[in-house]
Parts: sequence; structure tokens; C-alpha cells
Amino acid sequence: MKGFCCNILLLTLISSGFPLKNKKTERSKPLCQLAAFLEGGTIPLRIDSGVISQDGDFLDCSQSEKEKCKNMVLNQAQQGTGNGNLTLIANDDEGYTIGDILCDKADSVEENVQNKEVRIYWRLCGESWQRTHFRMSQHLCCIDGLYVPCDKIKNYG
Ligand SMILES: *[C@@H]1O[C@H](CO)[C@@H](O)[C@H](O)[C@H]1NC(C)=O
Repeated sequence: MKGFCCNILLLTLISSGFPLKNKKTERSKPLCQLAAFLEGGTIPLRIDSGVISQDGDFLDCSQSEKEKCKNMVLNQAQQGTGNGNLTLIANDDEGYTIGDILCDKADSVEENVQNKEVRIYWRLCGESWQRTHFRMSQHLCCIDGLYVPCDKIKNYG
């Protein structure tokens, strides 16, 4: 079933302030990205991603810039999710929670997610995604594209 929630990218929301401008002219600038992955299945599944860097934030693809990218991703993900709180209201207009948005995103890769971890990843310069230590405090459970706290679902797992 398709989620009807919020057609927005959570991680774009988190890193808001600089929507995808400069797409054409800045193609070769180092891009720092963050993503949310579902973990707990056979392989981690990417459910959402966004761009963290502003034009000129990153000089090159070196190790020190990677550290910087990782730290910015961590800071913004922590701030943007109330430190990983799935029940936090993310969108005042609609009242959707962080969990709802992640469920909406997850719906295209896995329907009715049951008891999975959501972890934040980062990458610089389009290299392979790297895990961070940061994950949402609660596990993700979704029914019809909306978040439901896992302990409210009687018979999962
Ligand atoms: C998560 O957000 C909800 C809704 O704002 C709040 O009631 C709750 O205290 C928060 N939980 C934590 C651990 O901060």
C-alpha cells in the first residue's frame, strides 16, 4: 500500500536552507550527502537521502574533508530528528512525525516495516556510503506508510 504522507524528503528537510541549486554549474564540487538506511534485514536498505553541503563547504575529497562531512551529517541528523526521536513532530502543518516520514520513504523499498533500525550514513564525493554510530532511538514499525511505535503492535516478530 502506498503511503499518503508528506511527499518530502526528511533528510532534505533536515539539511534545509539550501535546496538543490547550482546543480548544473557546481557538478564537480565535492558533495557531502547523508542517508537513512533500514538495518536488520539481510542488507541495509537506503530509504532516504539528502545533500548536506553548501557550495564551497568542501574543498576536496581528502580524509580531513571526510571527517568534516561526517560531523556535519551527525550534527544535522541529530538536530533535525530531536536526537533520533521517531515520535517527534517533523512537520507542523500536517502533524506528521519523523517516523511517519521515514515510513513514507521506506514504503518504496519495504512495505509495513517491522522492527527495523534506522541508521544515518554519510558519504563525500559519491564514494561508498559509510555508517555512523547514530541511529534512531526507537525501532521503526510502519502500517500502511505511517509510523506506529513497535510496542503498540502486538504480534510483530
Ligand atoms: C520525542 O518527541 C515527543 C513529541 O515531541 C516527546 O513527547 C518525547 O518526550 C520525545 N522523546 C525524547 C526521548 O526526547
